[in-house]
Amino acid sequence: MTVIAVGNQGGSAGKTTFVVNAAARLAQRTGRPVRVVDLDAQANASHWLGHHEPAGAPTVSDVLFHGAALIDAARPVVDVDQLSVVPARRAEMEGADVTLSRVLGGEQKLRMAIAADPQPPAITLIDCPGSLSTVTVAALVAADLAVTVFAPMEKEAGAVAAFEDTVTQVAAAYNPRLRLAGVVPSIVPGGGGRYYTDVLAQVRDGWGDLVTPPVRRSVRVPEAYSAQQPLTVYAPGEAVTADLAAVVEHLLGAGVAGAAR
Ligand SMILES: Nc1ncnc2c1ncn2[C@@H]1O[C@H](COP(=O)(O)OP(=O)(O)O)[C@@H](O)[C@H]1O
Ligand SMILES: [Mg+2]
Repeated sequence: MTVIAVGNQGGSAGKTTFVVNAAARLAQRTGRPVRVVDLDAQANASHWLGHHEPAGAPTVSDVLFHGAALIDAARPVVDVDQLSVVPARRAEMEGADVTLSRVLGGEQKLRMAIAADPQPPAITLIDCPGSLSTVTVAALVAADLAVTVFAPMEKEAGAVAAFEDTVTQVAAAYNPRLRLAGVVPSIVPGGGGRYYTDVLAQVRDGWGDLVTPPVRRSVRVPEAYSAQQPLTVYAPGEAVTADLAAVVEHLLGAGVAGAAR
């Protein structure tokens, strides 16, 4: 099994879009169980995968704070074989960061829940909040690999270095096996444009083979979110869906599915 934390200490980078759609593609492509864990109080991944404000049953905050088992909190995703989500409820996750930072060993909670899972999925993707918080640290402590997503503009590209720094610090403090395994350029406007090409070239200079092919900007993305369907279901023939499949191929080629503990 491989656990991949997807982060960036900024909002609207394309993290959730990557998590949801890469997870659906990985399930389809590998035929193996894939799970999304929604750690963000915005709960966008939960909404997208059909579990908006989930009623009853445990959610991710029950896993973090009340000892619920991941397997009991995981729910199937309609239309996507082998894909499940551990959903978040907004109100419960809003204060999660402060609460987790006050619990003894809070940053270890998700790692312990994953270690205790009797039937771990082949791949777990964790959608992190857009901030460097205890919740993000907990995701990185639980992960084998980290992936970051960024929009190709100067300030946003700077966030890649900041995230890598965090990964390095968490690796040193808690989790020596953790490493940055992918840098995904996202929401890239069509028609190229010199500015975007230059920023992408700079990022490739810095991170080389870790940089995946880019994901273009497409209205199909917010449409698929509203339809609560991954792009593989909502728009299987679209170019942006193919972009995300190419990102997944790149990551599989780099061995992410085999980075077992
Ligand atoms: N490739 C894309 N094309 C168009 N809009 C996108 C694309 N990726 C993300 N978006 C939009 O940008 C916003 C932020 O994306 P999201 O994946 O939620 O980022 P994050 O999780 O980093 O905050 C959302 O409204 C989403 O619909
Ligand atoms: Mg998000």
